[in-house]
Amino acid sequence: MAILEVRNLSVNYLTDEGTALHAVEDLSFSLDHGRSLGLVGESGCGKTTAMLGVLRLLPSEGRIVSGEVVYDGVDLLHLSEPEMREYRWGRISIVFQGAMNALNPVSRVGDQIAEAIMLHESVDKRMARAQVGELLEMVGITPEMASQYPHQYSGGMRQRAMIAMALACTPNIVIADEPTTALDVMIQAQILNLLQNLQKELGLSIILVTHDLGVVAEICDDVLVMYGGKTAEYASVDVIYNESLHPYTQRLLEAFPDVENPASTLASIPGYPPPLDALPPGCRFEPRCHRKSEICAVESPLLMAVNSGHYVACHEVRD
Ligand SMILES: Nc1ncnc2c1ncn2[C@@H]1O[C@H](COP(=O)(O)OP(=O)(O)O)[C@@H](O)[C@H]1O
Ligand SMILES: [Mg+2]
Repeated sequence: MAILEVRNLSVNYLTDEGTALHAVEDLSFSLDHGRSLGLVGESGCGKTTAMLGVLRLLPSEGRIVSGEVVYDGVDLLHLSEPEMREYRWGRISIVFQGAMNALNPVSRVGDQIAEAIMLHESVDKRMARAQVGELLEMVGITPEMASQYPHQYSGGMRQRAMIAMALACTPNIVIADEPTTALDVMIQAQILNLLQNLQKELGLSIILVTHDLGVVAEICDDVLVMYGGKTAEYASVDVIYNESLHPYTQRLLEAFPDVENPASTLASIPGYPPPLDALPPGCRFEPRCHRKSEICAVESPLLMAVNSGHYVACHEVRD
């Protein structure tokens, strides 16, 4: 059963001139209890914006313009801010992109986690401290390390500490935004392993946000490939790896590093995702597509079901 259903979510950023930039358009997905979804796409495709929208944590210039974010039958977009706070961290939490490098350097890691706990739960310092030990153990850090400072932690340990923080209020869903980016390959594997174990032990549902399709292969059940703020392809991980139909997905698959042999990383896809102030009028991927036809430049393809549970937005793919 779905614990989270996002339906037709669209998010704009307003510029100083008052124009609306479409960062996320018509995004829909569903996440089942205890399952994991990979949200994949290159940098700039709208992944973080979509997740901040789900949690209603967008910066002031961000606007959710339409859609529903249904958690266990409740549309979070209709809650008051105090009601929303009950869901944020307590039911859905996030390991923010880059957060492991944003730990306060002059404060002990354990104190920072304790503060986070006290911010969200009405517990005193002593209780928060006790919870810190348990949380650290859960993510594979010895409780004695709580009294150390961030610079005494390795990158992988800092990321573990951020995951511990995200678990502080016993959420049902954890969103991990690029949790392994900037970590070396061995450590990446350990962090993914940790997420997978936590998922099993705690029955968590996970949304793993990454630009690396190789990463989602490890732990995700389903994959949603985003391009230019829209869904390019959405299917189970097996279908994405074996029967993908969207040229962008296929290019990402060719580009992802070989885990056994990271040095063999293939050339990335030439070009960049479109900037929001110059979105192509037709298919967002058209300027970089190796299989485009005339219609692609003028008409944006609709997302269609090609099979049960397999959705693709590409003019080449027709019934
Ligand atoms: N605060 C903002 N104001 C305007 N544009 C933004 C803002 N934040 C992100 N963007 C733009 O929105 C698009 C999606 O960004 P983001 O959600 O960070 O993508 P991703 O997480 O996939 O890298 C990018 O084009 C980015 O430049
Ligand atoms: Mg991001």
